[in-house]
Amino acid sequence: MIDALLAASHSDATLFCTPGHRRGRSIPASMERLMGSQAYSADLPDLPGFNLFESEGFIASAQIRAAQLFGADRTWFLANGSTVGVMAAILATCGPGDKIILPRNVHTSAISGLILSGAHPIFINPEYDPDWDLVHCITPYTVARALDRHPDAKAIFMVSPTYHGVCGDVGAIAHLAHQQNIPLIVDEAHGAHFGFHADLPAAALTSGADFAVQSTHKTLSALTQASLLHQKSSLVDPRRVGSALQILQSSSPSNLLLASLEGACQQMSADGPALMSQTLAIARTARAGIGKIAGLSILQKPEAPTAGFFDLDPTRLTVDVSALGLDGFRADEICTEQFGIVAELPTLRHLTFIVSLGNRSEDIDRLFYALRHLPQQSTLATHKVSRLAGWPPTTHICHPARSPREAFFAPRVSVPIDRAPERVSAETLCPYPPGIPVILPGEAIAPEAIAFLQQIQAAGGLIAGCADPTLQSIQVIQD
Ligand SMILES: Cc1ncc(COP(=O)(O)O)c(C=O)c1O
Repeated sequence: MIDALLAASHSDATLFCTPGHRRGRSIPASMERLMGSQAYSADLPDLPGFNLFESEGFIASAQIRAAQLFGADRTWFLANGSTVGVMAAILATCGPGDKIILPRNVHTSAISGLILSGAHPIFINPEYDPDWDLVHCITPYTVARALDRHPDAKAIFMVSPTYHGVCGDVGAIAHLAHQQNIPLIVDEAHGAHFGFHADLPAAALTSGADFAVQSTHKTLSALTQASLLHQKSSLVDPRRVGSALQILQSSSPSNLLLASLEGACQQMSADGPALMSQTLAIARTARAGIGKIAGLSILQKPEAPTAGFFDLDPTRLTVDVSALGLDGFRADEICTEQFGIVAELPTLRHLTFIVSLGNRSEDIDRLFYALRHLPQQSTLATHKVSRLAGWPPTTHICHPARSPREAFFAPRVSVPIDRAPERVSAETLCPYPPGIPVILPGEAIAPEAIAFLQQIQAAGGLIAGCADPTLQSIQVIQD
């Protein structure tokens, strides 16, 4: 793909086809300042052998090589992130009214998959860790209970690793799924690097998952949005997956994005273990050093893994800053503005950093410097944090009043936020990142959920997915 794009970018053919910029000839000056003209000259959508949906050609053979690299039967290149892979996997396995078992803390793309497919969610709560105030993964026990109650479920969906790098027991859950003859879809958006080193958690496909969706752009070196969907299963006809992807993806996906997937695969095929060894060495130094900084603690793999915290990605550094009297958003602001350190994810209590194959040991020195110089604040922020206990709800299985699809299409009205509690939400309200909805379409709005969103907003977090991101009002289903 990459060689063919390079050759086409140097061709002297006169173009009367899309794209309008003609290999960068009419590139806007501002964009040329940003990225030069080379990327534009290779931005050529309609080259022979470059149809994403054909079974032959450059993309098809690159997908076959990617499947071999990741141990899949089939791999699809995605030009719209794991978002599209998650939606396609749900659409390929569940139709209207079909039951799918999934954790309540799914990424918003899974909710979109439910709206599109009309599947009926059987939500189960993931394991809650009160020491860290974090939700981890769903457990084989809760999945087995859900299967007992819903033996007609058509698929199981789980997130592993979580945004914080916590992995669930994919092998045991895959076993339960296969006893019922149904597929297990794993949202492995944050685990594209797992298969390349023995010191990383096992990749979902290796543990028996039928589908794994990976954001190659998050932890490997593809361009943003470039992701992979893998299938290793005879339980689902791959043509259904292909059809779902044709519905969901652009008919002119960027060949630059797709070529970056081939580049990332080539890189990992040639040097994956060596690159991940270096990354792991840097991450270990970071973990050891952060653990010694007064006032900070770092999320570690428990000595006795639990069913919902089975393994931990050592390259994901989740640091609890609350003992300093800071919330994660304030710590993030200080890190960025005063020390030039950009983290992946602030939450009310933590700040999460990703160490990837692009980091060097001097980056870790700079990170140490920033973390050592985080100020100790008054206890106000800590109080704010401790009031959050109680959300997300962890003691019960959630039963939405309506399915996300029914709620999405139902007549809706806007109500002031103070009149929203106990009404049924027509929309998703979702702090971004991490993109895990706090209120789902179809769910009765809990007062604690509103309080939680308001705290995130007050701390500087962004609330996405809703018509009024200022949170003055919420769209609810008309009575
Ligand atoms: C758990 C999870 N799944 C899916 C996605 C969607 O991934 P992408 O950004 O590649 O569309 C994300 C994005 O952050 C995520 O955190």
